[in-house]
Amino acid sequence: MPIGQDFLMELKYRNDIESVVGSYVNLKRRGSNLVGLCPFHNEKTPSFTVYPENGSFYCFGCGAGGDVITFIRQIENLDYLEAVKYLADRTGLQVPEDGYDASMQRMKAAVLEINRTAARYFHACLLSPAGKPALDYLLGRQLTMETIRHFGLGYAPDSWDGLLKHLVSKGYREQDILVADLIGRSKRGGYYDRFRGRVMFPIIDLRGGVIAFGGRILPGAEGAKYMNSSDTPVFKKSRNMFALNFAKNAGGERMILAEGYMDVISLHQAGFTNAVAALGTAFTAEQARLLSRYTKEVVVTLDADAAGQKATDRAMGILAEAGVGVRVLRIPDGKDPDEFIKKNGPSRFTALLDGAVGDIEYKLFTASKDLDTNTNEGRLAYLKRAADVLAGVEDSIARDLYAGRLADKFGVSKTAILTEAKQAARQENRRRQKKQFRELTAPRPGLPPEERTHMRAAGAEEGVLAILMRNPDYLDFVKERLSPEDFVTPFHRRVYEGVVKVLEEGRAFELSLLGGGFTPEEMGRIAGMQNKVVSQEKAAEALTDCIRVILEEKEKLDAGKAGEMPDGEWEAQLQRLREKKQRGI
Ligand code: CTP
Ligand code: MN
Repeated sequence: MPIGQDFLMELKYRNDIESVVGSYVNLKRRGSNLVGLCPFHNEKTPSFTVYPENGSFYCFGCGAGGDVITFIRQIENLDYLEAVKYLADRTGLQVPEDGYDASMQRMKAAVLEINRTAARYFHACLLSPAGKPALDYLLGRQLTMETIRHFGLGYAPDSWDGLLKHLVSKGYREQDILVADLIGRSKRGGYYDRFRGRVMFPIIDLRGGVIAFGGRILPGAEGAKYMNSSDTPVFKKSRNMFALNFAKNAGGERMILAEGYMDVISLHQAGFTNAVAALGTAFTAEQARLLSRYTKEVVVTLDADAAGQKATDRAMGILAEAGVGVRVLRIPDGKDPDEFIKKNGPSRFTALLDGAVGDIEYKLFTASKDLDTNTNEGRLAYLKRAADVLAGVEDSIARDLYAGRLADKFGVSKTAILTEAKQAARQENRRRQKKQFRELTAPRPGLPPEERTHMRAAGAEEGVLAILMRNPDYLDFVKERLSPEDFVTPFHRRVYEGVVKVLEEGRAFELSLLGGGFTPEEMGRIAGMQNKVVSQEKAAEALTDCIRVILEEKEKLDAGKAGEMPDGEWEAQLQRLREKKQRGI
């Protein structure tokens, strides 16, 4: 009897991988992941990695990996159902008898209710005597009481259990508060408030639900400047944006993408109610697609420092891929929008907004950085860089226009610039596609024999799976071009079927949703695919490359088998493959 997907998700959220694995392995934070010495093989330097983001682990040394269920299976030496039972018991869950269970719905509702109650509590604390330093801080940053109420800002008191006690007194269960990520569990099993002594920013979804919180430390206190809720059953960072609930109603043709909560709040207060921000992570493709539903154009105004410039370049590419027009607003003197508006007022900001340059102009401008274009050498170097910029411009009229301007400005022929740009475009395209393809198809340790004999196909198959796991949007694209039989390696075929099934139900991919059909060894390989380091750039092209390779390899394989096939069948097969290939790949 299969176990229901809702139940598996609930199990996953109640048993967060970090604390489950953490009770067996000494984990250290490294960026957004955790590393430690692998419990499944002998090692002296840690290659065992836990990915809280997607609830998986993977060891680069021995290839062990999977979700939290796989971990328990291996470390406790249990079979699948026993491991599920073990984790359910650990958190007071009942494994449903009939495999189906409505508890996920119940849990989501509970988390939303807890969040709403917590937001009210934080807001009341802000207005209470204990919240005075926080309120003074916000007023000192020139927020009005009206703005503070509008955004429902709050204060989490500097106490280990203020919120916990409040929520428990309202009848909420600790397990649910834990799932909402408002409390943590200490090594000794007690609970404590996660947000302490912080100004609280509730994050509201498009239906008005409080789905998460960001918390800012007060000046002078120790700790990270901002802290954010991790993903919960009602919150996925990479799919939500701060203040989109307001901005979507701003009724303009454009939106403003700012760096942080305070920038967005200042902008709204100054009348720019179309401003949004990512939630403590880099801007994602999913967020770009989300914005594309509400606006045609995004004005990017991220910080002006080196990191901000890199983030700007990234966001521009992601927005362009999502079909959203991009302009860049550069704030003088390296300030952020919040500081600029405070100093210069809203009308000066409007002027900046109107003067925001298109992405091409922005790139041409930044290309002159650290070059002296008064010397011939500097000009030559600049024109080469400018040609690289034009190489990335797909609109041929725009390319022509800018080439003309550059030609006039530097006294060279337009044709020369365009020729240079074309050449650069060809090189760049080839380089990127190769890079993507290499990343996606690179073999990993512990390849089983069937993959070694079909190395090329197996690599491409992994590529397709890795992209699909991260980009559910490509499901139809892939399904139109690949059927399970096209997979050369039986294992990848099964994974493909499993992934497709999960996505077809409209869920984001989670290892746990594959259920019990894979051995722990197989789960390890799947976790390896899921956590491959792959740039998201050019994913569609890389996907197309992988599909082409799979179909080519399949054709070769079938040709080899053709001798053994009855007449007619082979021709039919060949015809089918040809048709697929013609369909645009
Ligand atoms: N951020 C985060 N964790 C940190 C630092 C920053 O999640 N340790 C995120 C927050 O969402 C924050 C955004 O990155 O809003 C921008 O950070 P930063 O530029 O450092 O802060 P400001 O928005 O300028 O905040 P403030 O003006 O309050 O200093
Ligand atoms: Mn700031």
